[in-house]
Amino acid sequence: MRMSYRCILIESRERVALITLNRPEALNALSDELMDELGTAIAEFDGDDGIGCLVITGSDKAFAAGADIKELQAQNFFDVFRRDFPSAAGWSAARRARKPIIAAVAGYALGGGCELAMACDLIIAADTARFGQPEITIGTMPGAGGTQRLARAVGKSKAMELCLTGRLMDAAEAERAGLVSRVVPAAELLAEAQQTAATIASHSLPITMMIKEAVNEAFETGLREGLQLERRLFQSTFATEDHKEGMAAFVAKRAPKFKHR
Ligand code: HXC
Repeated sequence: MRMSYRCILIESRERVALITLNRPEALNALSDELMDELGTAIAEFDGDDGIGCLVITGSDKAFAAGADIKELQAQNFFDVFRRDFPSAAGWSAARRARKPIIAAVAGYALGGGCELAMACDLIIAADTARFGQPEITIGTMPGAGGTQRLARAVGKSKAMELCLTGRLMDAAEAERAGLVSRVVPAAELLAEAQQTAATIASHSLPITMMIKEAVNEAFETGLREGLQLERRLFQSTFATEDHKEGMAAFVAKRAPKFKHR
């Protein structure tokens, strides 16, 4: 496990990993270096048997204010086309991870920051959170899923409006629109996210992974294929020891002791 990073902080408690974006001088702008480190940390925690759920957070002021504009400023079309930016591992790490990832968002989650939060499996927001895709105001557009994931999360009209005007949405609006699972007071954000992560990590890991895969499939495929995958995964749970343990424990009125957590 790599322990020293420059742009993120990592820690783990029990079965929950916490990754904190840590470039306060740039409101956690997502530089190439930060995204490389994030990709490495996510992959390592995802492969760590002692971890059942990950939380990604930022600071009180910003989850992340977007891709690093100072890095992007110097680049031309062929620079970004040649390296297929932002296809680098960090940008797809949350999507590729098999274990659930919670984005705990306070302050600004803008541009690539909003896209990173949406690439996670669920978003818990502080009442100070502000989401937006303001790329239009600096002469570009969302490039890491903003037009696609935001449209699926909040519907066409609101996604269009946010992407076309650059308007920011506060936490209450984001909750009404279905972008975030819930809003909590800022002072309680991390504890709430870690508690939710601990609950997730207390369940059967193989079945947790199947559920993550099935729900994500809802955003990638049609209803018929999604229902088919869900049914097959549901049937597969019957092949696991944790299924037998979970049902036996319920019938015996005791707490389950899952083998694979
Ligand atoms: C680089 C950034 C940055 C960013 C803020 N900073 N956002 N640096 N990239 N995205 C830096 C500022 O330059 C400044 O550095 C310091 O962080 C504090 O920011 P301020 O602007 O002084 O803070 P404030 O007045 O509170 O305004 C906060 C803000 C504003 C509203 C969030 O910083 C802002 O509009 N940021 C850009 C948001 C944005 O357009 N994001 C989309 C980026 S494009 P100094 O050195 O001056 O103190 C994108 C494309 C994704 O994400 C495509 C796929 C990856």
